[in-house]
Amino acid sequence: MPTPMPMRSAGTLLKVVTEEIILKALSSIQDPDLHKDIVSLGFVKDIAIEKGHIKVTIELTTPACPVKDQLKEEAIQALKTLGGVENVEVFMTARVREKAGPKLEHLKLVRHIVAIASGKGGVGKSTVTVNLAIALAQTGAKVAVMDADVYGPTVPLLMGCNGQVPKTNADKILPIEKFGVKMMSLGFLLEDDKAVMWRGPLVAGTVKQLLEDVQWGELDYLLVDLPPGTGDAPMSLAQLAPLTGVVIVSTPHHVASNIAGKSAALFRHLKTPVLGIIENMGPAWNPATEQWESTFAGIGGNQLAINLGAPFLGSIPFDPMISEAGDLGTPSVIQHPARPQAKAFQDVAGKLAQQISIMAAQEVPDPQLA
Ligand SMILES: Nc1ncnc2c1ncn2[C@@H]1O[C@H](COP(=O)(O)OP(=O)(O)O)[C@@H](O)[C@H]1O
Ligand SMILES: [Mg+2]
Repeated sequence: MPTPMPMRSAGTLLKVVTEEIILKALSSIQDPDLHKDIVSLGFVKDIAIEKGHIKVTIELTTPACPVKDQLKEEAIQALKTLGGVENVEVFMTARVREKAGPKLEHLKLVRHIVAIASGKGGVGKSTVTVNLAIALAQTGAKVAVMDADVYGPTVPLLMGCNGQVPKTNADKILPIEKFGVKMMSLGFLLEDDKAVMWRGPLVAGTVKQLLEDVQWGELDYLLVDLPPGTGDAPMSLAQLAPLTGVVIVSTPHHVASNIAGKSAALFRHLKTPVLGIIENMGPAWNPATEQWESTFAGIGGNQLAINLGAPFLGSIPFDPMISEAGDLGTPSVIQHPARPQAKAFQDVAGKLAQQISIMAAQEVPDPQLA
């Protein structure tokens, strides 16, 4: 629903440029993802006109919007050429819109819950999850990671918080916060080396506890790092929480991409849309040979996405520095912000946020589910 424009009294408007003229000019700008103009979408929030000086605020659906700069430039161009306009300032803000539908009382301030899944283990799902979470938080979004990998909770290690003990507030567990991201993991709650017999009901109970007993607060994106495969955790999560969708991480190995298809099928069976495919350990740019070099020669993420009828969110290069940064507990986007992988994580984060916005705006979110 477009938000009604705040009306000004006629006396404060210049005769030459009016709000109406400005809105008409801005209505020529299309959001390339939502396929509607930015005025109908209710993105134009404030218009101030003072003697030929125009200030406009445009509110997007995510601070991680990859076309933010493009839309800003288009708005400036559209307004600059209007008669009587001397100077244009366009401010870009964002408010993440939620998906319509039922919400759980204790998660009502969480706008999007996104599962991160993979067919097999070791594809870098947790590494990708923490780097994406940080990249999203760096754009200004409120982000948390829930480590639901009951068999191998590695988020505390990757985020350099191993051994920390979460505080509690009344009957809720408070998330641990680092690099601008909130997190909770079984790794914080279990004693080291304690073996747990993970049977189905226990997995379901743990996922439920991580969702319900943690004080997540207000979040734009809650990323859930799932155990690999199609076991109890993804099923419990999809049944317990209203998921915006799932992201599937795969590597260019035949085995990985084969099983990735099973994950996609499981989530679709559970009526959870597939937001996209991320290729990890993909080709890396070698400055010495000036070529993209692949470590693995299996089917690429792009082709996998086509096969699964899901968007391709991008490729993260194979880079030993990513692994080293993870081992040090300082994720790669923080440890090596100038390396190409940091840009890759930021690009993938933008694409993911974009897909979430598209999903939130659609009535039938994933045609494969219809
Ligand atoms: N893009 C990458 N380049 C190089 N090593 C990576 C990359 N992504 C992940 N790794 C390494 O691969 C191993 C498995 O990653 P991890 O995130 O634990 O996988 P998963 O959660 O899927 O089991 C780790 O040692 C990690 O540092
Ligand atoms: Mg993992």
